[in-house]
Amino acid sequence: MYQGDIFTLTRKAGIAELEINTPDSPVNVFSRKAIAELSQVLDVLEHAELSGLMIVSGKDSFLAGADIKEFTDVFSSGGEAIAAHLTPNIQNFQRLQSLPFATVAVINKLALGGGLEMALACDYRVADTGARIGLPETRLGIIPGWGGTVRLLRIAGLDTALEWIATAKEASAADALKAHVLDAVVAQDELRGCAAELLRRCAQGEMDYELRRQQKNQPLALNPIESGLAFESAKAFIAQKAGRHYPAPLAALEAIREAATKSALEAAESELAYFIQVAQTDTAKALSGLFIADQALSKKARQWQAKASVKTAKLAVVGAGIMGGGIACQSALKGLPVALKDINQKGIDLGLQEAASVLGRRVEKGKMSVAALAEALTRIQPTLNDQPLATADVVVEAVVENIAVKKTVLADVEAQLPATAVLSSNTSTISITELATALTRPEQFCGLHFFNPVHAMPLVEVIRGAKTSDDTVARAVECAGALGKKAVVVNDCAGFLVNRVLFAYFAGFAALLDDGVDFTHIDAAMVRWGWPMGPAHLLDVVGLDTAEHAEATMANAFPERMGRTNPSPTTILYQAGLLGQKGGKGFYCYEKDKRGRPQKTPNPDAVQMLNIQSTAKPDDETIVLRMMAPLVNELCRTLQEGIVGSVAEADMAMIYGLGFPAHRGGVLRWVDSIGVRQFCEQLNTLRQYGPLYQTEPMMSELAEQGASFYGSAATSATLNPSH
Ligand code: COA
Repeated sequence: MYQGDIFTLTRKAGIAELEINTPDSPVNVFSRKAIAELSQVLDVLEHAELSGLMIVSGKDSFLAGADIKEFTDVFSSGGEAIAAHLTPNIQNFQRLQSLPFATVAVINKLALGGGLEMALACDYRVADTGARIGLPETRLGIIPGWGGTVRLLRIAGLDTALEWIATAKEASAADALKAHVLDAVVAQDELRGCAAELLRRCAQGEMDYELRRQQKNQPLALNPIESGLAFESAKAFIAQKAGRHYPAPLAALEAIREAATKSALEAAESELAYFIQVAQTDTAKALSGLFIADQALSKKARQWQAKASVKTAKLAVVGAGIMGGGIACQSALKGLPVALKDINQKGIDLGLQEAASVLGRRVEKGKMSVAALAEALTRIQPTLNDQPLATADVVVEAVVENIAVKKTVLADVEAQLPATAVLSSNTSTISITELATALTRPEQFCGLHFFNPVHAMPLVEVIRGAKTSDDTVARAVECAGALGKKAVVVNDCAGFLVNRVLFAYFAGFAALLDDGVDFTHIDAAMVRWGWPMGPAHLLDVVGLDTAEHAEATMANAFPERMGRTNPSPTTILYQAGLLGQKGGKGFYCYEKDKRGRPQKTPNPDAVQMLNIQSTAKPDDETIVLRMMAPLVNELCRTLQEGIVGSVAEADMAMIYGLGFPAHRGGVLRWVDSIGVRQFCEQLNTLRQYGPLYQTEPMMSELAEQGASFYGSAATSATLNPSH
C-alpha cells in the first residue's frame, strides 16, 4: 500500500500492517524524514477500506523516540521553528487517533518518548514481557511534545502521568500493564497474534475502540480540591528532586495541570507552548548535546572492545586497600571472579570490609538480596600468595601511590603472570611509560584508573603508555566494560586527563585563597553553579594527604602553571596534621549531629592558618570564572597534546570522572554556550593572575575564526590517530 525508506504499509485480509524500519540505525527514531513519510502513510490509510491497523517494528525494538541528533539545530532556531518542527507529528498522531478503524501498537523491547507517544495515539498497546516503556524527555531537558502529556494523563491517570513524565521513568511491561498504559503483555512470538485478535474483536463489535477515543478527547473529570492538592504536593516533590538547574520536570507538571482541564486539542496547544519554553533553555541544549557526546564515548569503547583478543574471565587486584577493595567489589557485583591479593592480612581485611560495606548498603537500599550479596562475596578470592595470579586475564595493581613501590610490585607481579595477561596500574598520577620501565612486557601494560568510590563513579581512564599495544588497550577497555564502567582511552602524562585538569582547577582555588577569599564562600558559589561539592569540600573528601601528594606530582610535571613558591593551602593544612574528611578535620570539621547525620562546619583552625579575610568576597561570576578558567585551559592543552581524542570524550570524562554539572553539557560545551570569543575576552581580564589564566592557542584560534569546540571539524574529529 505504501513503500517509503522508513515506513512500509502492507495489507493482509483487511488488516493493514505498518512497519517502521529506520535505515542505517540500530534503533527506530522519528526523524524529519520519518515524520514526512508517516504523513503520506496516513493519506493512504484515511482512504483505505480496512478493518484495523497494527504498527510494528522491523527491528528488535519498537521506537526510541524523536531523533535527538536533530535537536541542537531545532532548539537554536527560535520558537516558531520549534513549533514548525513539532506540528506535523502532532497532527500525524491526531490523524492516527481518528482513523476509521481500530489501531494497535505492537511494542517489542522498547517504546520511548515519541515511540510511546505514537503508541498512545493508537487505541490499544501490546508489549512483550521484557519491554521497557516511558517518556524520558525530561532527562533531555524537554517535555513530551507530540501529545504525551495529554494522552498519558487520560489513559493512565494523574499519578502515573506525573510520575512517569516528571521523573523520566522507564517502566517495565508489568508495571505499564498495571498502570493501564498497556492492554496486554505476552511473549515476543505471540505479539502479532495478540494484536490481530484485538483488531478482530474490535471489527466484530466485541470491543469498543471508539469509547477509548472519547476518553482521550475529553478533559479529565477531576475533583478540583483533590487534584489541586495532588499537584501542589507533586510540585514540591518534583522541584526538590530536580533542583533549580533542571526546569523541564516542573514544566511537565504545569503542562499536565493544564491538560487535565482542557479538551485534547487545547491541551496539545498548551503542551507545545511549554515545550517551546523548555527547548530554548541552555539546559535542554546541554542535555541533548550530552546524549550525543555520551553515545560518541560509548561507540569508541565498543570499537575497542570488538578488537580485544581475549575477554576478561578472571580479574586479579593487587593491593587490597579502599581502591583495591572497591575494584574487587565491583568485579564481584558484575559477576566477574576476582582474586584480591595483599602482602598482609590487615590489608585483605580492609579490602574485604570495603567490599562488604558497599554491598551491604545495596542490600539496605533494596537493590540486592542478602543471598545475592553472599554469592557476590564468594566471587572474591582473598589471597596472601601469588598463586591465583597465574590464572588471571587482567591484573590491576592498586598499591600505595609511590613510584618506587609500584615499580617493585609491578615487576614482581609480572613474573607470576601467564604470558598472555594484561597488567595495569590504578595509579592516579604516575606516568605509565615510566612505570613500564620496570617491566619485561611493557606492551602488555597500561593504566586502568578507577575513581573513588569505585562503585559510584562511572568512569575509568584507560591510559596508553609509550609502549602499550593496541590489543592491551582493547582488553583494558573490554575489562572496564565488563565491570560496568565507561572507558575513556587517554595518552600518558602526569595526572592523565582527569586529575591533570582537576589539579589545574585546584591551582585556581589556591590562587583565590592566596587572595584571602573564604573557602566556604567559594564552595557555596561553585555548588550554586551546579557542582556536587565545592573545591575545599572535594579536597577534604579526596583526603589532604592524597591531595598533597598528587599536587606535588602535578607541580613537578607542570611547574609553570601548577608550581608554587609558597606552600599551597592543601600543604599548609596537611602539614598541620589535618587529613580531611577521613580524619574528621580539614577545611571543614566533620561531626555527627544528635541523630547521627554527618555535619560539616568550617574549621576555625583552617580559617586561621589560611589567613582568610572575611572582607574578600568576590561575586559568584568572578569565582566561577577564576575556578573554571584554569580547568578549561588545561582541558584544551590535553586536546592539543592528544592526551584525549575528542571534544566529546573530554567533556564526558569531566562529567563522569569529576561530577562536572551535567546541565552545563560538559566543560567545552559550556564554553561554546558562552561563545569561545566571549570566553577568551573574559579570560583576558584575568591575565594578571599568571600562566594558569593565559588563553590556550587552540581556544584563541577558535575565537579568531568565530568557531566553537563542537562546531569545528578540527576539534570534533579524532585528534590523535592513536586513540
Ligand atoms: N535519537 C537518535 N539516535 C538515537 C536515539 C534517539 N532517540 N536513541 C538511540 N539512538 C542511537 C544512538 O545514538 C546509537 O547510535 P550509534 O550506533 O550511531 O552510536 C544507536 O541508536 C544505539 O543506541 P545505544 O544507546 O548504543 O543502544 P542501546 O541498546 O544501549 O540503548 C536506547 C538504546 C534507545 C535505550 C538508548 O539509546 C536511549 O536511551 N536512547 C534515547 C531514548 C530517548 O531519550 N528517547 C526520547 C527522545 S525525545
